[in-house]
Amino acid sequence: MKKILITGGAGFIGSHVVRLFVTKYPQYQIVNLDKLTYAGNLANLTDIENAPNYTFVKGDIVDADFIDNLFTEHQFDGVIHLAAESHVDRSITDPMAFVMTNVIGTCNLLNAAKTSWKDKMEGKRFYHVSTDEVYGELHNPEEFFLETTPYDPRSPYSASKASSDHFVRAYGSTYKLPVVITNCSNNYGPNHFPEKLLPLIIHNILHNKPLPVYGKGENVRDWLFVVDHARAIDTVFHDGKIGDTYNIGGFNEWKNIDIVMLVCKTMDEKLGREAGTSEKLITYVTDRAGHDLRYAIDATKIMNELGWKPSLQFEEGLEKTVDWFLNNQEWLDNVTSGNYQKYYTEMYTNR
Ligand code: NAD
Ligand code: DAU
Repeated sequence: MKKILITGGAGFIGSHVVRLFVTKYPQYQIVNLDKLTYAGNLANLTDIENAPNYTFVKGDIVDADFIDNLFTEHQFDGVIHLAAESHVDRSITDPMAFVMTNVIGTCNLLNAAKTSWKDKMEGKRFYHVSTDEVYGELHNPEEFFLETTPYDPRSPYSASKASSDHFVRAYGSTYKLPVVITNCSNNYGPNHFPEKLLPLIIHNILHNKPLPVYGKGENVRDWLFVVDHARAIDTVFHDGKIGDTYNIGGFNEWKNIDIVMLVCKTMDEKLGREAGTSEKLITYVTDRAGHDLRYAIDATKIMNELGWKPSLQFEEGLEKTVDWFLNNQEWLDNVTSGNYQKYYTEMYTNR
């Protein structure tokens, strides 16, 4: 039986990856390690929490001794590393939290894997989940990020992710650690934390609050349904070439203002409100410092070499997402009130 450590499995993308692995691979033992920061929520995983091949461990990847002991105890065969501070705006106000978790935390995991797999690297895999933001911003509309695009991170978040990518590659070449990295575009879907654009807009429309659009809303992001990202992670974990990098994206670019308008229209229809009601809530606010203009992933390599492709068109994915938030308003209210943390903190304290 394979034992796989998934870090950050209580977060947005991690919870979809954990669910996919626990249900698709009953022969694997999945250990979900998560610190349960403000972004970690075990309510994302209630449907699989009692599965016989699933274990949750609360812990911090910044704590090197704890990580070393965890590797000694479990003898993992593979690591899928998603735990991170993930929000660009928070990285602008508190960059050191990003250095600690994203850089030091990743290095602690690399060291523990290196020690644990020392003489038997064969069959092992250290998979680092990264972002397209490491490539910087695009200005030429004809240009896309390729796996060979030079790194040019411009926010503390993307600098911390770029740094961790470099360490992962360095451990691959220096210690022959069997590493693989993917760089993905903006995800959206169920369980998206409502500090990020799409769930924030959905939340604020529901509560008749202003919809903050940074600057003129002209910045472009490339959107991918979160379950398709989880499927891509499954594909690369099993079939990706050791030492390689794969870009993941859906060739699906949207200007922020256009996507906000589309959410407004979709929500008005779903809530039976008069057309144009939600649009009136749009409020242009001060731009994000160093706001990257455009991201666009060229995902040809993963599509051609590994046969992965997105399963959902954007309009379909957005509708599913809006439906999920409308059907899970309790989840949304618990997250915005912080109730989920109180409950699970009590549950896991002293374990
Ligand atoms: P998220 O913020 O929703 O979840 C992060 C998870 O990591 C949370 O459960 C949190 O509790 C946990 N965590 C944070 N610090 C930790 C620590 N020190 N020790 C242990 N656990 C810790 O993030 P997400 O959006 O799901 O992103 C997951 C990964 O994917 C990140 O590495 C991110 O950089 C990457 N990524 C995200 C996107 C996106 O659009 N959200 C796109 C590309 C790549
Ligand atoms: O590209 C991948 C990245 O996508 C991931 O690596 C990050 O973890 C993830 O958070 C996301 O980063 P972004 O900064 O692109 O996502 P966010 O949802 O914060 O913002 C999307 C766009 O919307 C961005 O151009 C900023 C803008 N925005 C965001 C917020 C929160 C607004 O206009 N108003 C807002 O209130």
